[in-house]
Amino acid sequence: MEGCGNSALSYELSLVGFPDVTSVDYSSVVVDAMRTRYAHMPNLRWETMDVRALDFPSGSFDVVLEKGTLDALLAGEEDPWTVSLDGVHTVDLVLSEVSRVLVPEGRFISLTSAAPHFRSRHYAQARYGWSLRHTTYGDGFHFHLYFMYKGRELSGAQLALGAQLFLPPRPPPTPCFLQDSDHEDFLSAIQL
Ligand SMILES: C[S@@+](CC[C@H](N)C(=O)[O-])C[C@H]1O[C@@H](n2cnc3c(N)ncnc32)[C@H](O)[C@@H]1O
Repeated sequence: MEGCGNSALSYELSLVGFPDVTSVDYSSVVVDAMRTRYAHMPNLRWETMDVRALDFPSGSFDVVLEKGTLDALLAGEEDPWTVSLDGVHTVDLVLSEVSRVLVPEGRFISLTSAAPHFRSRHYAQARYGWSLRHTTYGDGFHFHLYFMYKGRELSGAQLALGAQLFLPPRPPPTPCFLQDSDHEDFLSAIQL
């Protein structure tokens, strides 16, 4: 699990049958705390690591999961509709590393509050060598779940969406003001 924080998710994954769960976070404080909290669970491994440069060999994981870590990495973006070049590069570093450490038919699962119009274009890049599926979870407030399957292909529509990531940002729309709005007699124009 990438950017595990103090979430119990890794522990719960092991309870439902995942035999070995490795969790990383770049906060050594949180990693030490989790290692202590789950010292009785030898199949849970905790590592201080930056998800932009993983210290794992290629092809070493069947499944990679992140929950809210990409959201944290993009939290400083001024405009979620037009992610900065730095933001695009950061996400690319993370996804390239995920793709590298996955086995040939591995899966990447991303749990986020980011809806497809913000996030899909980042995942829809042919260079990661995976397919993309999206679904939601929850009533009212939705969590978004993205499933990437390594060794499968993106659709043409998804590739076209991915290409939009590299288009130059559109200029902001020109503000539109009503002419002479201070002098209009709105009240007497209302027909009751
Ligand atoms: C929003 S929290 C999510 C924590 C946990 N996944 C959860 O669902 O509760 C984001 C986590 O990502 C970690 N993080 C942020 N950037 C990171 C990076 N470059 N490498 C590793 N961990 C990172 C933070 O330390 C934090 O624990």
